Amino acid sequence: MLDTSQTGAEVRLSGVEKTFGTNTVLSRLDLTIRSGEFLSIVGKSGCGKSTLLRLLTGLDQPTRGEVTVDGHAPADQRGEVRLMFQEPRLLPWASVIDNVAVGLPEGGTLANRRAQAEAALAEVQLPGKAQDWPASLSGGQRQRVALARALVSRPRLLALDEPLGALDALTRLVMQDLILQVKRDDGFTAILVTHDVAEAVALSDRVIVLDAGRVAKEVVIDLPHPRSKGHPRLAALEAEILDAIFAKGRD
Ligand SMILES: Nc1ncnc2c1ncn2[C@@H]1O[C@H](COP(=O)(O)OP(=O)(O)O)[C@@H](O)[C@H]1O
Ligand SMILES: [Mg+2]
Repeated sequence: MLDTSQTGAEVRLSGVEKTFGTNTVLSRLDLTIRSGEFLSIVGKSGCGKSTLLRLLTGLDQPTRGEVTVDGHAPADQRGEVRLMFQEPRLLPWASVIDNVAVGLPEGGTLANRRAQAEAALAEVQLPGKAQDWPASLSGGQRQRVALARALVSRPRLLALDEPLGALDALTRLVMQDLILQVKRDDGFTAILVTHDVAEAVALSDRVIVLDAGRVAKEVVIDLPHPRSKGHPRLAALEAEILDAIFAKGRD
């Protein structure tokens, strides 16, 4: 069998529908996210972005249609998939390194688990904090710990639900670069939900706009990294995406 351990997962949605009672949140959604792609999902509040991430990561099931990660049900691929949220969700009574080790599967020696957690902390550029308590860290440092916890198991799919939404503007920019760097180093597939369209175009290979349960717009960001913030092509793509989010008269 092909060894795909160093590549990102491929995600496919076909005819996916998700309803809650009479509320149709996603309707007949078809989407393929290729191995190693960085996809961003944007759209108005309540349009179903978090719901979509929950389906992709196996935390919830579609009402109709099929979601697969490398051809399998997401729930069967749990070891390969990690989800990161706006709140770091750290254990306040555990040290930084123990919080990172929470992301590892059970088993292995203590020394080995510590070594893996140390490596993940180095990757998020947070060395020297291993024995600190979460309460002593800044908001940005806590999100680094949450990122290290997500990366420590070497996932092949990382889903990020507004991970930088609570950070100040400068910390966001630093964290965006960090996410790009770990993505490049580790090769996973990344799916980012963000309300920040500039962030979406700065980081992604492709941005989709969700509206009324469908993909209302898809934009390929065909610029190499590093992308300079003031690049006119980025600004034009950002405007095009914002127009799609706020388009009137679509049913
Ligand atoms: N567990 C649930 N039960 C009922 N309705 C839900 C549930 N989860 C989400 N919804 C509804 O689905 C819609 C989309 O929610 P969500 O995916 O959280 O939107 P977004 O992340 O884009 O802001 C909302 O109308 C929300 O109320
Ligand atoms: Mg949400």
